[in-house]
Amino acid sequence: MKKTIWMFMAMMMALTTEAQQPPMVLGDNHAMLKLQQEKRYILLPVQEKEDIAAIAVLDGHNNMVQRLNVKLAIDRVDYYVPYEIKGACLFDITFHGDRRQKGAVGEFACWREIKYSDTFGTANRERFRPVYHHTPLYGWMNDPNGMFYRDGVWHLYYQYNPYGSQWENMHWGHSTSKDLIHWESQPIALEPDWLGSIFSGSCVTNGNETIAFYTTAGLHQTQSMAISRDNGKTFTKYAGNPVITSDKPDFRDPNVFWHEGTKRWIMILAAGQEMQIYSSANLTEWKYESSFGKEYGNHSGVWECPDLFSIEDKWILICNINPGGPFGGSATQYFVGSFDGHKFTCESMPKVTKWIDYGKDHYATVSFYNAPENRRVVLAWMSNWQYANQVPTQQFRSANSIPRDLGLFRYGEETYVSVVPSKEMLDARGEKVKQPTEACEIVVDVKGSADITLSNTKGEQVTMHYDAGKQTIAMDRTMSGNVSFSEAFPCVTEAPTYGQIKQLRIFIDRCSIEAFDAEGKMVMTNLVFPSEPYNSIKVKGGKVTIYEIKY
Ligand code: FRU
Repeated sequence: MKKTIWMFMAMMMALTTEAQQPPMVLGDNHAMLKLQQEKRYILLPVQEKEDIAAIAVLDGHNNMVQRLNVKLAIDRVDYYVPYEIKGACLFDITFHGDRRQKGAVGEFACWREIKYSDTFGTANRERFRPVYHHTPLYGWMNDPNGMFYRDGVWHLYYQYNPYGSQWENMHWGHSTSKDLIHWESQPIALEPDWLGSIFSGSCVTNGNETIAFYTTAGLHQTQSMAISRDNGKTFTKYAGNPVITSDKPDFRDPNVFWHEGTKRWIMILAAGQEMQIYSSANLTEWKYESSFGKEYGNHSGVWECPDLFSIEDKWILICNINPGGPFGGSATQYFVGSFDGHKFTCESMPKVTKWIDYGKDHYATVSFYNAPENRRVVLAWMSNWQYANQVPTQQFRSANSIPRDLGLFRYGEETYVSVVPSKEMLDARGEKVKQPTEACEIVVDVKGSADITLSNTKGEQVTMHYDAGKQTIAMDRTMSGNVSFSEAFPCVTEAPTYGQIKQLRIFIDRCSIEAFDAEGKMVMTNLVFPSEPYNSIKVKGGKVTIYEIKY
């Protein structure tokens, strides 16, 4: 009897979760699907190695309301992504790539595997998901966007694909935190529209309003804005978008701030291999002021995600570049100089190139608007465009760096930006432990050259070598674990230390190692994918203290 009830319940569950409506197959690469409306979500099965299926969503009046690209499963399901059903609608689906050899569209696994559900589980399924770094609950994340601080809350928006764990369908995801360590996921803040998908940008606060500036990436990249009156939770797009246009193909990532000297809003944005500066009295009408970059710094790739701010008496221009990083792929360079509200002037010789982080996985660095106590707090995307889409996670891809505070230091004739872990990381220090754990901070006091080896019982290891004579630090991840998903992944990264180092602070969080000179003259961020956590450390030439990170 019990068994019959159980079977009946199982059948009912199957009936309510499996797809009922068969697709309408219209050709070799074309099908339509009417969505059932009884459930909140349709759960779309994704197979990452497949080509995208372009889905046009038509409402009950056959008007297109949304477009999304999803790698619908052809022969097996890697994972599901939810699409919220908001009323009568039809998916008009064009499968890309040559699928004919794989059989008719009607046989694709997606039709059998589609589910309807009122819920979508986001409990962590990934052993490489960091514990104390920000990650999206599911889906793909790249650049941090629009970060601002207000009323005790740090807001982090980010480049987000809610329909797969690879780059596509750019939205602004949103998370908030009171301490820069514990993050709470918020509803999506900005969705693509007919001007394009929502690329990187920034936010400013003006009275009660929060104004987001972002790139609408359609046929061309144009700059748009949106206004929030509920502290950055929901945004209404400005009716006069786009606010700045250009015929340049790479024209993006507006970063806006208030310039007290000229009493104007300033926008800096990336245009090919230079940064353009605009000014405005009202945030909607922008006047071109000047460009910076010709012949300065590294030009081996496209300039992206700028930021411009003062620290003490200097102005810092942040310039993310891809490719062209010191170890291949993407990295963050910066320039030190002055800014008069119209023009940035670099104080170094044009050939001088300065990097903010000498690891391989630290990109799209930008700062929070309006951080308290005059702090300049930055976050980066902890990955590299060379392999970001292939790293061995699936439920989500990519984390942010730990929060860092910027300052200045001088070495020789040059002024450099110093980078230290934000003070919130000290509050996160827990008990002292004897061996490294998967989420810990390792402090190494050194007197001269030192060798540090992190290893696990599988023989996987990461070695670091501080050469006090040469004034360099190197990190070798060639034997760190899974390095096979990209030829560009195994590598040794090396940084100048600009003088001697006394203490290293090394943050480990499952798949990342961030090594700082405690005084801020060197930082190196690298991903690692060991088959078990590094649970042993050997140090030659230094004294080690290990702290758990409280979470
Ligand atoms: C940098 C970048 C930005 C762009 C965004 C798109 O990683 O290429 O220039 O706005 O990513 O997701």
